[in-house]
Amino acid sequence: MRVSFRLNGSWVSVDVEPGEILLDTLRLRLGIRSVKRGCERGECGVCTVLLNGEPVVSCLLLTAQVDSMEVTTVEGLGSDPLFKDLAEEFARRFSIQCGYCTPAILLTTYAYIRKVYEGKRKASVEEIVKAIEGNLCRCGTYPRVVRAVVNTLSRLTTAP
Ligand code: FES
Ligand code: FES
Repeated sequence: MRVSFRLNGSWVSVDVEPGEILLDTLRLRLGIRSVKRGCERGECGVCTVLLNGEPVVSCLLLTAQVDSMEVTTVEGLGSDPLFKDLAEEFARRFSIQCGYCTPAILLTTYAYIRKVYEGKRKASVEEIVKAIEGNLCRCGTYPRVVRAVVNTLSRLTTAP
């Protein structure tokens, strides 16, 4: 079956098997390698993508389900100023260790920051922790991830 969706700002049409998961379509057919394979059970979060701006695990999503929708991975955010700022903050805070989980955590935190910023509301540490709870990190970088989110948000809200 043929499925068409927007991937990182451009429309793609791809032939897939009826039961094919988005993770496989992205990695094996479309060459998107930032989306990682982990548990394939929706538990680790390394396969996270943004679907219409919301973080979702691509191992539990059939590609057919994203027809006509917008899928974003880190490959599509390189020129987004907010994403660049967040990624730099991650680097400054050493919020990255293995690198394997990093694209997914960046996407999740980017989506969260966008939502807070566009909603013109306040974030809380508890809320940030909740936002990233679906992204497992075995090396325990969570406090640094939270700090990177707080710092990025505070720069946004104090920016002239
Ligand atoms: S590979 Fe999708 S949640 Fe683990
Ligand atoms: S930094 Fe990737 S699992 Fe911890």
